[in-house]
Amino acid sequence: MRRIYLDYNASTPIDPAVAAAMTPFLENHYGNPSSGHWAAAAAKAAIETARGQVAALLGCEADEIVFTSGGSEANNLALKGVFFALRDRGDHVITTRVEHPAIIEPCRFLERLGAQVSTLPVDGTGRIDPDDLRREITPRTVLISIMHANNEVGTIQPIEECARIARAHGVLFHTDAAQSVGKIPTGVNDLGVDLLSIAGHKAYAPKGVGALFVRREALLEPLIHGAGHERGRRAGTESALLAVGLGKACELARDLAPMIRVRALRDRFWHALQEQFGARVVLNGNPAHRLPNTLNVSFVGEVGAEILARLDGIAASTGSACHSGRIELSPVLESMGVPPAIGIGAIRFSLGRRTTADEIDAVVQRLAGVLPALVTTS
Ligand SMILES: Cc1ncc(COP(=O)(O)O)c(C=O)c1O
Repeated sequence: MRRIYLDYNASTPIDPAVAAAMTPFLENHYGNPSSGHWAAAAAKAAIETARGQVAALLGCEADEIVFTSGGSEANNLALKGVFFALRDRGDHVITTRVEHPAIIEPCRFLERLGAQVSTLPVDGTGRIDPDDLRREITPRTVLISIMHANNEVGTIQPIEECARIARAHGVLFHTDAAQSVGKIPTGVNDLGVDLLSIAGHKAYAPKGVGALFVRREALLEPLIHGAGHERGRRAGTESALLAVGLGKACELARDLAPMIRVRALRDRFWHALQEQFGARVVLNGNPAHRLPNTLNVSFVGEVGAEILARLDGIAASTGSACHSGRIELSPVLESMGVPPAIGIGAIRFSLGRRTTADEIDAVVQRLAGVLPALVTTS
């Protein structure tokens, strides 16, 4: 059975250049970066080079980068860190209904500590309306967190406009850019954000590493207190191995040219599906404001998970989950108002740098094979 990987939004393979950069830190350079002797020097220098590479991708200063264990920790640090630091000033946080659980759950946790959390609705394509944000801001608002691009449907939010609104009200603005790094521009000054999360394993680095951009003026209480690593923002002996991997991946991610090919493949995929299945296949997400690699489609009248089960060897994700024998829509599709009959037929295909035209054609063929009843005769 031919294996085809179309789940790059779930995770990416480690780029060979990333693995090569990391190897010396697996085999040598074991010193503690905080030590003052020869064994520390290579690790310490490599971490700072890596920090510079992450900063170069995001267009910020190196000292504004905090290494974390991944996107979830970066999001937790942003939300809880700002909330705890600004507790005296206010208790109101604004986010959206389509965030990743790594935002939703920390918000729920903060609510248990007394935070007021507002969640902005989205339209049928998964986009928020900046006017809704304007209306939600109160003198008690301390943080706004709106994801850059959605992991399920790829919809890109109007971050620049939302960040301008936040700034005009003197409120800190965070964006979860775990899905957008390396796919679309993520310069923090162009976006106008104060905090931005990235996740290594979504961008060809290993799992277990990520970063949070924290603008110099932004106050942040650390989640992990200890020996003052990362300028007091995250304690724990730094991993040069993981930092180097993320740094190299960020260097590669600055080149968005591979996304031109990926977008063309994604569009070829969509057109082939439309040709094959006509009106029985519908697009989920925003047709224009969407990640170039993401294609979330619903096969009307079908169950996404059942289709995937029949597509042996093809790795992709569904937009529905089976809970106690009932198929439930993903909260993202639900928030978008996708009718259940359409939503349960959703499959997310996400392409990446290694995806080939041959793979796309093979998947379309396999789909036509497992869904013969849907083939149109026109
Ligand atoms: C939008 C978004 N944010 C955060 C995360 C969590 O990142 P990590 O897996 O590195 O903790 C993910 C991963 O699925 C994601 O897609």
